[in-house]
Amino acid sequence: MINFSGVKQRLFWKGSPRSISFDAAGMDQKLKNTAENCFIVEDHANRIGIANAGELTTDGKGLQILGMVAPMTAEQLGDPTFKRDYNLKYTYKTGAMANGIASETLVIAMGKAGLLGSFGAAGLVPTRVEQAIDTIQTALMNENYAFNLIHSPNEPALEAGAVKHFLERKVQVVEASAFLNLTLNIVHYRVAGLSKDEKGNILIKNRVIAKISRKEVASHFMQPAPKKYIDQLLADGKITPLQAELSARIPMADDITVEADSGGHTDNRPLVTLLPSIIRLRDQLQQKHEFTTPIRIGAAGGISTPESALSAYMMGAAYIVTGSVNQACLEAGTSEHVRKLLASVSQTDVMMAPASDMFEMGVELQVLKRGTLFGPRAKKLYELYMRYNSIEEIPQEERSKLEKSIFKKPLEEVWQGCINFFNDRDPHQIERAQNNPKRKMALIFRWYLGLSSNWANQGVKDRLTDMQIWCGPAMGAFNDWVKGTYLENYQNREVADVAKHIMQGAAYLYRIQSLKNQGVNLPLEWSVYIPVKNEIEVEI
Ligand SMILES: Cc1cc2nc3c(=O)[nH]c(=O)nc-3n(C[C@H](O)[C@H](O)[C@H](O)COP(=O)(O)O)c2cc1C
Repeated sequence: MINFSGVKQRLFWKGSPRSISFDAAGMDQKLKNTAENCFIVEDHANRIGIANAGELTTDGKGLQILGMVAPMTAEQLGDPTFKRDYNLKYTYKTGAMANGIASETLVIAMGKAGLLGSFGAAGLVPTRVEQAIDTIQTALMNENYAFNLIHSPNEPALEAGAVKHFLERKVQVVEASAFLNLTLNIVHYRVAGLSKDEKGNILIKNRVIAKISRKEVASHFMQPAPKKYIDQLLADGKITPLQAELSARIPMADDITVEADSGGHTDNRPLVTLLPSIIRLRDQLQQKHEFTTPIRIGAAGGISTPESALSAYMMGAAYIVTGSVNQACLEAGTSEHVRKLLASVSQTDVMMAPASDMFEMGVELQVLKRGTLFGPRAKKLYELYMRYNSIEEIPQEERSKLEKSIFKKPLEEVWQGCINFFNDRDPHQIERAQNNPKRKMALIFRWYLGLSSNWANQGVKDRLTDMQIWCGPAMGAFNDWVKGTYLENYQNREVADVAKHIMQGAAYLYRIQSLKNQGVNLPLEWSVYIPVKNEIEVEI
């Protein structure tokens, strides 16, 4: 069953022969006991077996050891200070998913299981976010949670409003994302939470987990807040002189999530290239600034299986973040149609398409291409936006096609819809478009891009082919992994359970890979981690 092709070391095993398993079921169980030592031994009849108990000797007495691994549980993976600071069981976080797809239910399920969930506040009106704060704070009195603070270059009022709410409502962890540079808002949030204890230690109340996919952006968050913002906040009376002084001694973020090829906004970088670069950058800046607590670097993008989680940890990730896989879980604030569709996709069923929030800048995000025509249709709109200066310039034939197949109504009516939408949210947007036909065209096109994700979340039946479903290759990888297990059925997918299987699987595989590297060749069925229902208890 097991064979050995490594080099035998002068290492021997002493213990009760009864504690060695030579049968398949016994050996399998011993490999799974990740909290115990695992010794691969060869007895005097040249049989290979596995023991969890016993001890190691070098005196030549006892059984030859072919390989061994120390305990490695899911709890051990990653940086223990991440668990300590956020009061977690595992160094595992779910990323925000806009429009409340990362719903209250999802964040609460994560929090109750000792994991960190981030509410998908992006795209929601302030009253809706406030409602979510109420619900989550009531449910998670002693557990942790985060809220997404998304940079909104087109709607600066939203970003400022979100920070105001987070400060007023004492939201103590934000996941900052889509930032290209620091803004006054994010600096305000961070610095307004600083104080000093009686020993002079800096206390950080407002934690920032910044999600980045570029070194330039990462470096902003890895350094103290810029003086120009501190001076302005001080002049506006938004921070105290003490806070201004303390801000020079701490970085802008506690944690940096390095995001590789992911669902939603992404630069499509491979994690294996990006993560080591950012870790190196952190090390350089840590040397320069000598922060009391070094910034932790986590990994996101493409993580949805034990193998991908383990690879991130082995490259030095302090924690991991999942996204796409959670949208297919029961707690996600999306429709049954989307959940079901996601459970059927493979890794190649995704594509890049224009993003609604940064449409004019040509920014794209990763969406599902199977079961929806959103991607090609959104690309068509961007093409027209680049070619023409106004809606009126679009040839009549083209315009009619748009109204018939994409908008399903006259563009004048769509414009009226934009006015109504922004009147509630950010009236300045309409003012800026009134005398600027290109801007007006962008807002009209963004109507489709914005609503298409609502159609997906609400499962609108006559918009099935227009659904915008953010998704990365991680979804297909997850589907491959769980094929043939109880998690193949999307109705069995729960965020905390999925998280625990990924973590438990990563810990299991850590030891399997280590044994393989020592020359211990295990049968195929023991080289993979198969999720089994209820094998891991979910504490609710
Ligand atoms: C449906 C969906 C919506 C997302 N919305 C946001 C968002 O609003 N803010 C954000 O910071 N990240 C967002 N993300 C990114 C996730 O938080 C996470 O970082 C990413 O999905 C991880 O990569 P993965 O998709 O490969 O697992 C979204 C991802 C998905 C799949």
